Amino acid sequence: MEAPNPLALMVEEMKTRTPEKRQIKNLGRTIWQFPSVFDSEFTQQGCEFLAVEVNRVVKEELANIDNDDHFDFLEIGCGNGNILIEVACNHRDNLHIWATDINPTAVENTKENLTLHGLENQVNVSTGDVYSASDIKDRHFDLIFWSFPFVPFAGPNPQEKRALSPLERGLVDVEYKGLREFLSGAKDHLKKNGRLLFAFSFKIGSEDLLKKIMSETGWGYRVLSEAEAELKFTTQPLSMTNDVKLLEAVSLE
Ligand SMILES: C[S@@+](CC[C@H](N)C(=O)[O-])C[C@H]1O[C@@H](n2cnc3c(N)ncnc32)[C@H](O)[C@@H]1O
Repeated sequence: MEAPNPLALMVEEMKTRTPEKRQIKNLGRTIWQFPSVFDSEFTQQGCEFLAVEVNRVVKEELANIDNDDHFDFLEIGCGNGNILIEVACNHRDNLHIWATDINPTAVENTKENLTLHGLENQVNVSTGDVYSASDIKDRHFDLIFWSFPFVPFAGPNPQEKRALSPLERGLVDVEYKGLREFLSGAKDHLKKNGRLLFAFSFKIGSEDLLKKIMSETGWGYRVLSEAEAELKFTTQPLSMTNDVKLLEAVSLE
């Protein structure tokens, strides 16, 4: 019998958890989870770890700027908005947030969560592939972050080419094409001394492909923080843990 494909199991789990729009918790806050948007409750430990860590980095950076200055944060792949909501709720002054996702339903989901928390004036959200959204493409940021979908192929056969569903795109970036865009476009979107952060897993992701793409685009990386995170299956008698790492890209130039 063929072994079940872990990607298919994860997508099935997300579909089953959210057949229709529902409320979930993230760091004690209620947020909406829409169907066909990456389900942050399934990977709650990892999502909460990243939200806390990104918030910590923003806090440190804000401590270094003048009161009349402002800080611009861009989140790529915002999903339901759980990470930027944690950041926005903690820093109402001096901070403006831009967010984008290739999945238009994720953009709607984030907007609804911003309204729920009275944050709609602090965050601009738009649909786009990495930096392509019209209100992002010509802008520069102090901090850019992506909770990156680090599965490198859509199935056991890397040659398999097919269109991915929105839920699959929450987990998979085929051959890390999106990551290449993220890294190669970063220097055009970071302010002087701006920082580039992303989530990765050496257990589920491909470290070799990451290193190759980073060196080809002029970046190295350092690990800022890491955590073990459980994937909570309700549809299968399965228990999986993941090593979630917050990486910072370091320019090799
Ligand atoms: C791992 S999920 C993280 C979602 C959310 N930040 C969270 O923590 O729940 C990755 C997100 O990246 C988005 N994404 C995938 N490829 C993208 C691309 N090329 N450009 C922008 N967003 C993308 C997916 O739609 C998904 O929402």
